[in-house]
Amino acid sequence: MPIVALSGLRGGVGTTSITAALAWALNRLGESTVAVDFSPHNQLCSHFNASLTHARGWAHSALHQRPWQQSAMRYTEQLDFIPFGQLPRAEALDYLRQPETLLTPWAQQFASLRAGYHWVLLDIPADMPQISQLLLPHVDHHLMVLTPDANCHLRLHQAMFPANTRFLINQFSPISQAQQDLHQLWLSSLTAMIPLLIHRDEALAESLLSKQPLGEYRPLSLAAEEAATLAAWCLVNLKGRGE
Ligand SMILES: Nc1ncnc2c1ncn2[C@@H]1O[C@H](COP(=O)(O)OP(=O)(O)O)[C@@H](O)[C@H]1O
Ligand SMILES: [Mg+2]
Repeated sequence: MPIVALSGLRGGVGTTSITAALAWALNRLGESTVAVDFSPHNQLCSHFNASLTHARGWAHSALHQRPWQQSAMRYTEQLDFIPFGQLPRAEALDYLRQPETLLTPWAQQFASLRAGYHWVLLDIPADMPQISQLLLPHVDHHLMVLTPDANCHLRLHQAMFPANTRFLINQFSPISQAQQDLHQLWLSSLTAMIPLLIHRDEALAESLLSKQPLGEYRPLSLAAEEAATLAAWCLVNLKGRGE
């Protein structure tokens, strides 16, 4: 039932990979889950073995005023994904300039999406703030993904976050003294920090190359076990409809 938005403090922190890994991990816990991609780069579907050149997706359906069900694809029992899909060039440029034209009417279907699944995960691109602005008012929880580096640290102090934002560290490398220090600093200064993290792990990098969610590709890897822990944490802490 809850709608959970995942977005990165910047691009490349691993938001799309974590969305796919979390969707898989929630599904393994017996929860029906759908993951929706709001980036025109359309990469989320690659984690579910679909072609990113395929037109099918919510944007295509929204353009033709069709319901979300027509763009949903099934990966496994009770695990669905809705790609962005492909738009004709002019409409793709319109989405970059004015995403509200497609998003605002599409967002009216959130109640029906919510009714169809235990979890609705939204993968929101980091480099398009208008999309966050349009979608975040509709969500129950917001997970902001960050990597412990100076770039993210500076951005943390430049942005305002909604009250329902929690921070999740990805690509943690324990051999880096700088990362260890930033991790400690954030733990003590960010009250909304999720008390677990995802390590930098080749299994995550390889899972996208093999077009599978992490937990299916390498279930015993460190990052897969951390994604499973994150799913369990979500079940305990985010199951409701938000504060
Ligand atoms: N924990 C991790 N360990 C190793 N590689 C990772 C990890 N998280 C993400 N990656 C890799 O980083 C790249 C960017 O990830 P992606 O999920 O596309 O980021 P974003 O959606 O934030 O732009 C991908 O190649 C992905 O495989
Ligand atoms: Mg992404």
